[in-house]
Amino acid sequence: MAKQRIRVGIIFGGRSGEHEVSLRSACSVMEAIDQEKYEILPVGITKEGRWIAGGNPMKALTAGDELTQPAALLGEPGDRTLKAIETIQNTEATSLKNIAALDVVFPVLHGTYGEDGTLQGLLELADVPYVGAGVVGSAVGMDKAVFKKVMVAEDIPVLPYLLILRADWDRDPDAVIAKTEQSLRYPMFVKPANLGSSVGISRATNRGELSSAFKEAARYDRRLLVEEGIPAREIEVSVLGNDDPIASIPGEVIPGDAFYSYADKYLNDDAQLLIPAPLDPETVSLAQELAVRAFKAIDGAGLGRCDFLLDKETGKLWINEINTIPGFTSISMYPKLWEASGISYPDLIDRLIQLALERHSEKSRNKTTYESDSNQ
Ligand SMILES: Nc1ncnc2c1ncn2[C@@H]1O[C@H](COP(=O)(O)OP(=O)(O)O)[C@@H](O)[C@H]1O
Ligand SMILES: [Mg+2]
Repeated sequence: MAKQRIRVGIIFGGRSGEHEVSLRSACSVMEAIDQEKYEILPVGITKEGRWIAGGNPMKALTAGDELTQPAALLGEPGDRTLKAIETIQNTEATSLKNIAALDVVFPVLHGTYGEDGTLQGLLELADVPYVGAGVVGSAVGMDKAVFKKVMVAEDIPVLPYLLILRADWDRDPDAVIAKTEQSLRYPMFVKPANLGSSVGISRATNRGELSSAFKEAARYDRRLLVEEGIPAREIEVSVLGNDDPIASIPGEVIPGDAFYSYADKYLNDDAQLLIPAPLDPETVSLAQELAVRAFKAIDGAGLGRCDFLLDKETGKLWINEINTIPGFTSISMYPKLWEASGISYPDLIDRLIQLALERHSEKSRNKTTYESDSNQ
Protein backbone atom coordinates (compact mmCIF):
# COMPACT_ATOMS: atom_id res chain seq x y z
CA MET A 1 0.00 0.00 0.00
CA ALA A 2 1.24 3.49 -0.80
CA LYS A 3 2.51 5.39 2.21
CA GLN A 4 0.15 8.07 3.41
CA ARG A 5 1.47 11.50 2.51
CA ILE A 6 1.77 14.27 5.08
CA ARG A 7 -0.66 17.07 4.27
CA VAL A 8 1.04 20.49 4.43
CA GLY A 9 -0.99 23.68 4.46
CA ILE A 10 1.11 26.26 2.65
CA ILE A 11 -0.14 29.70 3.58
CA PHE A 12 0.86 32.73 1.50
CA GLY A 13 0.03 36.34 0.69
CA GLY A 14 -1.21 38.14 3.76
CA ARG A 15 -1.92 41.58 5.17
CA SER A 16 1.62 42.81 4.78
CA GLY A 17 3.82 45.05 2.68
CA GLU A 18 5.62 41.84 1.76
CA HIS A 19 2.50 40.18 0.26
CA GLU A 20 4.03 39.84 -3.21
CA VAL A 21 7.34 38.52 -1.90
CA SER A 22 5.42 35.89 0.03
CA LEU A 23 3.69 34.76 -3.18
CA ARG A 24 7.06 34.33 -4.84
CA SER A 25 8.49 32.43 -1.88
CA ALA A 26 5.43 30.14 -1.74
CA CYS A 27 5.57 29.38 -5.48
CA SER A 28 9.17 28.24 -5.04
CA VAL A 29 8.26 26.06 -2.04
CA MET A 30 5.33 24.44 -3.86
CA GLU A 31 7.48 23.72 -6.90
CA ALA A 32 10.31 22.16 -4.94
CA ILE A 33 8.53 20.23 -2.18
CA ASP A 34 8.78 16.43 -2.40
CA GLN A 35 5.28 15.50 -3.58
CA GLU A 36 5.82 11.80 -2.91
CA LYS A 37 6.11 12.59 0.75
CA TYR A 38 3.94 15.68 1.09
CA GLU A 39 0.51 16.61 -0.18
CA ILE A 40 0.12 20.36 -0.61
CA LEU A 41 -2.96 22.26 0.49
CA PRO A 42 -2.48 25.85 -0.72
CA VAL A 43 -4.12 28.57 1.36
CA GLY A 44 -4.06 32.19 0.25
CA ILE A 45 -4.59 35.26 2.42
CA THR A 46 -5.73 38.38 0.58
CA LYS A 47 -4.26 41.82 1.28
CA GLU A 48 -7.42 42.47 3.30
CA GLY A 49 -6.67 39.45 5.47
CA ARG A 50 -9.29 37.06 4.12
CA TRP A 51 -8.40 33.39 3.77
CA ILE A 52 -9.14 31.58 0.53
CA ALA A 53 -8.75 27.92 -0.41
CA GLY A 54 -10.03 25.40 -2.91
CA GLY A 55 -9.26 25.83 -6.60
CA ASN A 56 -5.99 27.64 -7.11
CA PRO A 57 -5.57 30.38 -4.48
CA MET A 58 -2.16 31.37 -5.89
CA LYS A 59 -3.76 32.12 -9.23
CA ALA A 60 -6.61 33.93 -7.47
CA LEU A 61 -4.14 36.23 -5.71
CA THR A 62 -2.00 36.85 -8.78
CA ALA A 63 -4.40 36.81 -11.74
CA GLY A 64 -7.61 37.28 -9.79
CA ASP A 65 -9.90 35.26 -12.06
CA GLU A 66 -9.85 31.97 -10.20
CA LEU A 67 -12.78 30.59 -8.25
CA THR A 68 -11.88 29.89 -4.64
CA GLN A 69 -13.80 29.65 -1.41
CA PRO A 70 -13.57 31.75 1.73
CA ALA A 71 -11.83 29.59 4.29
CA ALA A 72 -11.04 29.55 8.00
CA LEU A 73 -9.21 27.67 10.66
CA LEU A 74 -10.98 27.62 14.01
CA GLY A 75 -8.96 28.79 16.98
CA GLU A 76 -9.67 25.70 19.05
CA PRO A 77 -7.95 22.35 19.30
CA GLY A 78 -9.62 19.34 17.77
CA ASP A 79 -9.91 18.38 14.17
CA ARG A 80 -7.16 20.66 12.70
CA THR A 81 -9.33 21.01 9.66
CA LEU A 82 -9.41 23.86 7.23
CA LYS A 83 -13.03 24.88 6.69
CA ALA A 84 -14.79 26.44 3.74
CA ILE A 85 -17.24 29.17 4.73
CA GLU A 86 -20.44 28.84 2.72
CA THR A 87 -23.30 31.31 2.72
CA ILE A 88 -26.68 29.73 2.90
CA GLN A 89 -28.75 31.10 0.04
CA ASN A 90 -31.30 33.79 0.81
CA THR A 91 -30.24 34.01 4.43
CA GLU A 92 -27.56 35.83 6.38
CA ALA A 93 -26.35 32.54 7.82
CA THR A 94 -23.13 30.76 6.92
CA SER A 95 -22.10 27.18 7.36
CA LEU A 96 -18.71 25.53 7.59
CA LYS A 97 -17.72 22.63 5.40
CA ASN A 98 -14.57 20.61 5.96
CA ILE A 99 -11.95 21.04 3.24
CA ALA A 100 -9.18 18.87 4.64
CA ALA A 101 -7.34 18.13 7.87
CA LEU A 102 -3.85 19.62 8.12
CA ASP A 103 -0.93 17.62 9.45
CA VAL A 104 1.34 20.65 9.50
CA VAL A 105 1.35 24.25 8.26
CA PHE A 106 4.17 26.06 6.50
CA PRO A 107 3.43 29.77 6.81
CA VAL A 108 5.34 31.28 3.90
CA LEU A 109 4.35 34.77 5.01
CA HIS A 110 6.65 37.71 5.59
CA GLY A 111 6.12 40.72 7.83
CA THR A 112 2.96 41.79 9.64
CA TYR A 113 0.24 39.22 10.44
CA GLY A 114 2.37 36.32 9.28
CA GLU A 115 5.86 36.58 10.69
CA ASP A 116 5.02 38.52 13.85
CA GLY A 117 3.41 35.92 16.11
CA THR A 118 -0.22 36.68 15.28
CA LEU A 119 -0.73 33.79 12.85
CA GLN A 120 1.42 31.62 15.11
CA GLY A 121 -1.05 32.39 17.94
CA LEU A 122 -3.93 31.08 15.85
CA LEU A 123 -1.98 27.94 14.95
CA GLU A 124 -1.22 27.36 18.65
CA LEU A 125 -4.91 27.71 19.51
CA ALA A 126 -5.81 25.29 16.73
CA ASP A 127 -3.04 22.96 17.93
CA VAL A 128 -1.58 22.53 14.44
CA PRO A 129 2.19 21.94 14.07
CA TYR A 130 3.81 24.72 12.02
CA VAL A 131 7.15 25.64 10.52
CA GLY A 132 9.14 28.37 12.22
CA ALA A 133 9.31 30.26 15.48
CA GLY A 134 6.43 30.28 17.95
CA VAL A 135 4.54 33.29 19.26
CA VAL A 136 7.32 34.81 21.35
CA GLY A 137 10.17 34.16 18.91
CA SER A 138 8.17 35.59 16.04
CA ALA A 139 7.06 38.67 17.95
CA VAL A 140 10.53 39.43 19.32
CA GLY A 141 12.08 38.87 15.89
CA MET A 142 9.60 41.35 14.45
CA ASP A 143 9.88 44.08 17.06
CA LYS A 144 13.18 45.88 16.54
CA ALA A 145 13.08 47.54 19.97
CA VAL A 146 12.32 44.45 22.07
CA PHE A 147 14.80 42.51 19.93
CA LYS A 148 17.57 44.95 20.85
CA LYS A 149 16.73 44.70 24.54
CA VAL A 150 16.98 40.93 24.38
CA MET A 151 20.33 41.18 22.54
CA VAL A 152 21.69 43.60 25.16
CA ALA A 153 20.66 41.17 27.91
CA GLU A 154 22.60 38.44 26.08
CA ASP A 155 25.70 40.61 25.55
CA ILE A 156 25.30 40.54 21.77
CA PRO A 157 26.44 43.92 20.39
CA VAL A 158 23.75 46.26 19.03
CA LEU A 159 24.34 49.78 17.73
CA PRO A 160 23.45 52.60 20.17
CA TYR A 161 19.73 53.36 19.86
CA LEU A 162 16.71 55.03 21.43
CA LEU A 163 13.08 53.99 21.43
CA ILE A 164 10.71 56.92 20.84
CA LEU A 165 6.93 56.75 21.19
CA ARG A 166 4.96 58.41 18.42
CA ALA A 167 2.85 59.99 21.16
CA ASP A 168 5.98 61.76 22.46
CA TRP A 169 6.99 62.82 18.96
CA ASP A 170 3.47 64.23 18.34
CA ARG A 171 3.46 66.07 21.68
CA ASP A 172 6.92 67.65 21.52
CA PRO A 173 9.09 66.99 18.45
CA ASP A 174 11.74 69.50 19.57
CA ALA A 175 12.25 67.63 22.84
CA VAL A 176 12.59 64.35 20.95
CA ILE A 177 15.17 65.84 18.58
CA ALA A 178 17.10 67.33 21.50
CA LYS A 179 17.07 64.03 23.41
CA THR A 180 18.16 62.11 20.29
CA GLU A 181 21.00 64.52 19.48
CA GLN A 182 22.19 64.33 23.08
CA SER A 183 22.63 60.59 23.03
CA LEU A 184 23.37 59.63 19.40
CA ARG A 185 25.68 60.83 16.65
CA TYR A 186 24.80 61.47 13.01
CA PRO A 187 24.25 59.78 10.65
CA MET A 188 21.23 58.07 12.17
CA PHE A 189 18.63 55.62 10.94
CA VAL A 190 15.00 56.00 11.98
CA LYS A 191 12.77 52.95 11.69
CA PRO A 192 9.23 51.92 12.58
CA ALA A 193 9.69 49.29 15.31
CA ASN A 194 7.46 46.66 13.70
CA LEU A 195 7.84 46.54 9.97
CA GLY A 196 10.21 45.05 7.43
CA SER A 197 11.41 45.45 3.87
CA SER A 198 12.99 48.80 4.75
CA VAL A 199 9.54 50.45 4.59
CA GLY A 200 9.44 53.73 6.53
CA ILE A 201 13.20 53.67 7.16
CA SER A 202 15.36 56.74 6.45
CA ARG A 203 18.90 57.83 7.02
CA ALA A 204 19.43 61.28 8.52
CA THR A 205 22.62 63.30 8.49
CA ASN A 206 21.29 66.49 10.12
CA ARG A 207 18.44 67.89 12.22
CA GLY A 208 16.17 68.62 9.25
CA GLU A 209 16.53 65.10 7.89
CA LEU A 210 16.07 63.63 11.36
CA SER A 211 12.79 65.44 11.73
CA SER A 212 11.57 64.21 8.31
CA ALA A 213 12.76 60.70 9.19
CA PHE A 214 10.70 60.66 12.41
CA LYS A 215 7.65 61.93 10.52
CA GLU A 216 8.03 59.23 7.90
CA ALA A 217 8.50 56.39 10.40
CA ALA A 218 5.57 57.69 12.48
CA ARG A 219 3.24 56.98 9.56
CA TYR A 220 3.82 53.26 10.07
CA ASP A 221 4.07 52.54 13.77
CA ARG A 222 3.42 53.92 17.23
CA ARG A 223 6.93 52.97 18.32
CA LEU A 224 9.97 54.35 16.54
CA LEU A 225 13.55 53.34 16.72
CA VAL A 226 16.44 55.71 16.08
CA GLU A 227 19.98 54.35 15.96
CA GLU A 228 23.48 55.36 14.98
CA GLY A 229 24.36 54.62 11.39
CA ILE A 230 27.70 53.16 10.40
CA PRO A 231 29.44 52.56 7.08
CA ALA A 232 28.46 48.92 6.95
CA ARG A 233 28.90 45.72 5.05
CA GLU A 234 25.76 43.61 5.33
CA ILE A 235 26.48 40.07 6.46
CA GLU A 236 23.75 37.43 6.78
CA VAL A 237 23.79 33.98 8.39
CA SER A 238 21.07 31.32 8.07
CA VAL A 239 20.11 29.38 11.18
CA LEU A 240 18.30 26.03 11.14
CA GLY A 241 17.04 23.83 13.98
CA ASN A 242 15.04 23.85 17.20
CA ASP A 243 16.85 23.44 20.51
CA ASP A 244 20.19 22.72 18.84
CA PRO A 245 20.34 25.08 15.89
CA ILE A 246 23.16 25.23 13.36
CA ALA A 247 24.52 28.19 11.39
CA SER A 248 25.32 28.34 7.68
CA ILE A 249 28.33 29.99 6.14
CA PRO A 250 27.81 33.78 6.05
CA GLY A 251 26.75 35.61 2.90
CA GLU A 252 26.97 39.28 2.02
CA VAL A 253 24.52 41.67 0.39
CA ILE A 254 25.98 44.47 -1.69
CA PRO A 255 23.12 46.97 -1.93
CA GLY A 256 22.57 48.84 -5.17
CA ASP A 257 21.21 51.91 -3.30
CA ALA A 258 22.84 54.02 -0.61
CA PHE A 259 21.40 51.44 1.80
CA TYR A 260 19.42 48.24 1.36
CA SER A 261 16.11 49.95 0.57
CA TYR A 262 12.67 48.65 -0.43
CA ALA A 263 13.37 49.41 -4.09
CA ASP A 264 16.66 47.63 -3.84
CA LYS A 265 15.09 44.56 -2.27
CA TYR A 266 12.09 44.18 -4.55
CA LEU A 267 11.98 46.63 -7.47
CA ASN A 268 15.46 47.06 -8.90
CA ASP A 269 17.67 44.16 -9.51
CA ASP A 270 20.85 45.88 -8.41
CA ALA A 271 21.62 44.23 -5.09
CA GLN A 272 24.21 41.47 -5.32
CA LEU A 273 24.54 38.43 -3.08
CA LEU A 274 28.03 37.16 -2.35
CA ILE A 275 28.13 33.56 -1.14
CA PRO A 276 30.27 32.99 0.79
CA ALA A 277 30.93 36.49 2.13
CA PRO A 278 34.64 37.33 1.77
CA LEU A 279 35.53 37.41 5.47
CA ASP A 280 38.43 36.33 7.63
CA PRO A 281 37.89 33.05 9.53
CA GLU A 282 37.53 34.82 12.91
CA THR A 283 34.68 36.98 11.64
CA VAL A 284 33.01 33.92 10.09
CA SER A 285 33.04 32.06 13.42
CA LEU A 286 31.94 35.12 15.35
CA ALA A 287 29.00 35.72 12.99
CA GLN A 288 27.97 32.07 13.25
CA GLU A 289 28.27 32.01 17.02
CA LEU A 290 26.30 35.24 17.46
CA ALA A 291 23.63 34.07 15.00
CA VAL A 292 23.01 30.88 16.98
CA ARG A 293 23.03 32.72 20.31
CA ALA A 294 20.60 35.35 19.02
CA PHE A 295 18.30 32.67 17.60
CA LYS A 296 18.23 30.86 20.94
CA ALA A 297 17.80 34.12 22.86
CA ILE A 298 14.56 34.99 21.06
CA ASP A 299 13.38 31.35 21.27
CA GLY A 300 13.70 30.85 17.54
CA ALA A 301 12.60 27.57 15.98
CA GLY A 302 12.96 26.00 12.56
CA LEU A 303 14.50 28.83 10.64
CA GLY A 304 15.82 32.36 10.98
CA ARG A 305 18.13 34.61 9.04
CA CYS A 306 20.38 36.67 11.23
CA ASP A 307 21.51 39.96 9.70
CA PHE A 308 24.63 41.79 10.81
CA LEU A 309 26.23 45.14 10.08
CA LEU A 310 30.00 44.90 9.82
CA ASP A 311 31.67 48.29 10.32
CA LYS A 312 33.90 48.90 7.32
CA GLU A 313 36.20 51.11 9.39
CA THR A 314 36.53 49.32 12.71
CA GLY A 315 35.75 45.73 11.62
CA LYS A 316 33.27 45.41 14.51
CA LEU A 317 30.27 43.15 13.98
CA TRP A 318 26.86 44.39 15.18
CA ILE A 319 23.67 42.38 15.08
CA ASN A 320 20.93 44.19 13.17
CA GLU A 321 17.96 41.84 13.15
CA ILE A 322 16.59 38.31 12.84
CA ASN A 323 13.99 37.51 10.23
CA THR A 324 12.04 34.50 11.43
CA ILE A 325 10.48 33.85 8.01
CA PRO A 326 13.14 35.19 5.65
CA GLY A 327 12.70 35.47 1.87
CA PHE A 328 12.33 31.89 0.72
CA THR A 329 12.41 31.79 -3.08
CA SER A 330 14.93 29.29 -4.39
CA ILE A 331 17.29 32.20 -5.13
CA SER A 332 16.84 34.00 -1.79
CA MET A 333 19.74 34.37 0.62
CA TYR A 334 18.35 31.98 3.28
CA PRO A 335 18.15 28.83 1.10
CA LYS A 336 21.17 29.84 -0.98
CA LEU A 337 23.33 29.88 2.15
CA TRP A 338 22.15 26.37 3.02
CA GLU A 339 22.79 25.19 -0.49
CA ALA A 340 26.34 26.47 -0.20
CA SER A 341 26.58 24.76 3.19
CA GLY A 342 25.45 21.39 1.74
CA ILE A 343 21.63 21.35 2.15
CA SER A 344 19.63 21.51 -1.09
CA TYR A 345 16.41 23.55 -1.35
CA PRO A 346 14.05 20.50 -1.38
CA ASP A 347 15.96 18.98 1.57
CA LEU A 348 15.67 22.24 3.44
CA ILE A 349 11.88 22.25 3.05
CA ASP A 350 11.81 18.64 4.23
CA ARG A 351 13.93 19.41 7.29
CA LEU A 352 11.81 22.42 8.22
CA ILE A 353 8.62 20.37 8.14
CA GLN A 354 10.23 17.63 10.22
CA LEU A 355 11.43 20.25 12.72
CA ALA A 356 7.86 21.59 12.94
CA LEU A 357 6.50 18.12 13.71
CA GLU A 358 9.25 17.45 16.26
CA ARG A 359 8.65 20.73 18.04
CA HIS A 360 4.93 20.09 18.21
CA SER A 361 5.34 16.64 19.70
CA GLU A 362 7.94 17.92 22.15
CA LYS A 363 5.52 20.63 23.22
CA SER A 364 2.62 18.24 23.61
CA ARG A 365 4.44 16.79 26.64
CA ASN A 366 3.59 19.99 28.48
CA LYS A 367 0.81 19.83 31.02
CA THR A 368 -1.76 22.51 30.46
CA THR A 369 -3.65 22.05 33.69
CA TYR A 370 -2.51 22.01 37.28
CA GLU A 371 -2.74 18.65 38.98
CA SER A 372 -1.97 18.48 42.65
CA ASP A 373 0.31 15.64 43.69
CA SER A 374 -1.80 13.45 45.98
CA ASN A 375 1.30 11.89 47.58
CA GLN A 376 2.37 15.14 49.18
N1 LIG B 1 22.48 51.49 11.88
C1 LIG B 1 22.62 51.31 10.57
N2 LIG B 1 23.78 51.64 9.95
C2 LIG B 1 23.92 51.49 8.62
N3 LIG B 1 22.96 50.99 7.81
C3 LIG B 1 21.78 50.65 8.37
C4 LIG B 1 21.55 50.77 9.78
N4 LIG B 1 20.30 50.36 10.04
C5 LIG B 1 19.77 49.98 8.87
N5 LIG B 1 20.65 50.16 7.86
C6 LIG B 1 20.37 49.91 6.43
O1 LIG B 1 18.94 49.87 6.23
C7 LIG B 1 18.53 48.56 5.79
C8 LIG B 1 17.19 48.20 6.40
O2 LIG B 1 17.25 48.22 7.81
P1 LIG B 1 16.76 47.00 8.69
O3 LIG B 1 16.96 47.36 10.12
O4 LIG B 1 17.41 45.77 8.22
O5 LIG B 1 15.20 46.97 8.40
P2 LIG B 1 14.24 45.91 7.68
O6 LIG B 1 13.65 45.11 8.78
O7 LIG B 1 13.22 46.75 7.03
O8 LIG B 1 15.08 45.09 6.74
C9 LIG B 1 19.68 47.65 6.21
O9 LIG B 1 19.72 46.50 5.41
C10 LIG B 1 20.88 48.56 5.98
O10 LIG B 1 21.18 48.69 4.60
MG1 LIG C 1 16.79 44.06 7.14
